[in-house]
Amino acid sequence: MKPHNSYVTVIISSVLILGWLEMRVAECRVASYADKFDYPAINCRKHSAVLTDFGGVGDGKTSNTKVFEAAISNLSHYASDGGAQLVVPPGKWLTGSFNLTSHFTLFLHKDAVILASQDESEWPSLPVLPSYGKGRDAPDGRFSSLIFGTNLTDVVITGYNGTIDGQGAYWWQKFHKGELKLTRPYMIEVMYSDQIQISNLTLVNSPSWFVHPIYSSNIIIQGLTILAPVDSPNTDGIDPDSCTNTRIEDCYIVSGDDCIAVKSGWDEYGIKFGMPTQRLIIRRLTCISPDSAMIALGSEMSGGIQDVRAEDNIAINTQSAVRIKTAAGRGAYVKDIFVRGMSLDTMKYVFWMTGDYGSHPDPGFDPKALPNITGINYRDVRADNVTYSAKLGGISGDPFTGICISNVTIGLTEKPKDLQWNCTDVEGVTSNVTPKACDLLPEKEQKFDCPFPDDKLPIESVQMKTCSLTTVSFF
Ligand SMILES: *[C@@H]1O[C@H](CO)[C@@H](O)[C@H](O)[C@H]1NC(C)=O
Ligand SMILES: *[C@@H]1O[C@H](CO)[C@@H](O)[C@H](O)[C@H]1NC(C)=O
Ligand SMILES: *[C@@H]1O[C@H](CO)[C@@H](O)[C@H](O)[C@H]1NC(C)=O
Ligand SMILES: *[C@@H]1O[C@H](CO)[C@@H](O)[C@H](O)[C@H]1NC(C)=O
Ligand SMILES: *[C@@H]1O[C@H](CO)[C@@H](O)[C@H](O)[C@H]1NC(C)=O
Ligand SMILES: *[C@@H]1O[C@H](CO)[C@@H](O)[C@H](O)[C@H]1NC(C)=O
Ligand SMILES: *[C@@H]1O[C@H](CO)[C@@H](O)[C@H](O)[C@H]1NC(C)=O
Ligand SMILES: *[C@@H]1O[C@H](CO)[C@@H](O)[C@H](O)[C@H]1NC(C)=O
Ligand SMILES: *[C@@H]1O[C@H](CO)[C@@H](O)[C@H](O)[C@H]1NC(C)=O
Repeated sequence: MKPHNSYVTVIISSVLILGWLEMRVAECRVASYADKFDYPAINCRKHSAVLTDFGGVGDGKTSNTKVFEAAISNLSHYASDGGAQLVVPPGKWLTGSFNLTSHFTLFLHKDAVILASQDESEWPSLPVLPSYGKGRDAPDGRFSSLIFGTNLTDVVITGYNGTIDGQGAYWWQKFHKGELKLTRPYMIEVMYSDQIQISNLTLVNSPSWFVHPIYSSNIIIQGLTILAPVDSPNTDGIDPDSCTNTRIEDCYIVSGDDCIAVKSGWDEYGIKFGMPTQRLIIRRLTCISPDSAMIALGSEMSGGIQDVRAEDNIAINTQSAVRIKTAAGRGAYVKDIFVRGMSLDTMKYVFWMTGDYGSHPDPGFDPKALPNITGINYRDVRADNVTYSAKLGGISGDPFTGICISNVTIGLTEKPKDLQWNCTDVEGVTSNVTPKACDLLPEKEQKFDCPFPDDKLPIESVQMKTCSLTTVSFF
């Protein structure tokens, strides 16, 4: 795994590159790969290298796990000297799980495909997440994610829409057969980290969740195309989990589970860990997920979820738009949720709140730990071909309060259900809503708009820099 002597930094001038490219025309022997890119990122890097510098083989068959590890370990030494970027060139790069480093960019060429290995020995195990206490597929332990990072600062995973293919079918089959001894890996996970960007990539067929930032802050996720079969198990798109200051925008997601699932830990473990997801923006998302939600809040929400701002989102052929999932035992809260502008087509439910979601990690949960669901605001919604306008089920003795719904027009399917608004244990108001809401959400005489904050969250003012990247690899 010794890096070749071709390691080149961006110090090489473009004059040299041009001269070299001319030379290449004359003499075809020389380089396997040379390119120049501009791309937006939170931080640019002083040093760069290509995966092939470290012996990478892009034939789709040779494992590159050790190559990724060697490359990133080498580049980690430049963290305090302007940082480094690793270019994944055109090719199919088979790999197991590998770890990221700080002040680092992983850049995928548009014709690069990172292929996840189906050899379990390429996937180290990690302890279960402390805020979950148990694994979701198997109680003890979990596989490390394909691209994993912990305790990092300033990490970018981006490209010109290059692809990461989780080859999930192997794991979905094991899940269905009940053969998993550890919880399945995610595609990308960062833990205990700050300043993260994940952008301009196509992610397909994750073994389980696709993108999982947890216990982290200042996260920008944009321009992702996420694709999985609509019947694949637990292929959530993006799961911000106990994170502060997150901006998710311009993503297109087709999946077998919630397109976005906002989380913060599970029952007694999440309550004890006590780390909320807060200050989250979700905008310009397009979602297709026939059996799940465009945006789910929960079901694991035991560290609390607060200040979520969802704007200008689209769902097509999706079970529900924004769904709150919780249960007695979860504790904590979901509050100050603001949704403005949804365009929806072919939905089972527009509004859905589930207070009896169940699904507990173990019998040790406290049934008296009741969640506080309050301040839930929806406005400016247009929906077509809907089966039920709303199913809003709070918890008996713990009603969901402060629900506000305004300026909503719902067109129904050819055979709509008679009871369009099925409400229990909820309190709130509506204005200018068709069909008319349930009695628990009375229409006010004076028309009004439900609130949406005027202020900007700090993550909205983060500006991207334009980074230039020049790479040459001779091997
Ligand atoms: C990284 O690899 C290059 C190229 O082989 C080598 O010159 C350099 O010393 C390595 N750096 C570190 C810190 O290992
Ligand atoms: C990756 O990080 C995890 C968690 O810190 C650690 O257990 C594992 O050993 C690391 N893997 C490598 C190859 O360094
Ligand atoms: C990572 O950060 C967490 C939270 O600050 C800390 O508990 C843990 O020890 C750190 N891990 C490492 C490997 O530094
Ligand atoms: C990225 O690739 C996907 C899959 O090929 C494609 O559907 C999408 O339009 C591409 N996005 C951009 C911005 O080029
Ligand atoms: C990345 O995606 C954003 C949209 O999210 C787009 O504005 C930008 O041009 C894309 N950049 C590249 C290098 O593809
Ligand atoms: C729920 O949260 C709201 C807003 O923070 C607070 O006013 C209310 O007292 C809480 N309710 C319960 C039952 O804790
Ligand atoms: C009502 O919502 C629609 C989108 O469904 C929007 O175009 C319109 O401006 C909203 N009306 C008001 C008064 O805000
Ligand atoms: C309307 O929704 C039904 C499911 O309720 C679906 O079968 C049908 O294709 C949809 N129609 C249109 C025009 O999208
Ligand atoms: C309304 O919701 C309740 C609680 O989930 C359910 O038991 C009932 O069957 C629903 N009613 C109709 C008519 O769908």
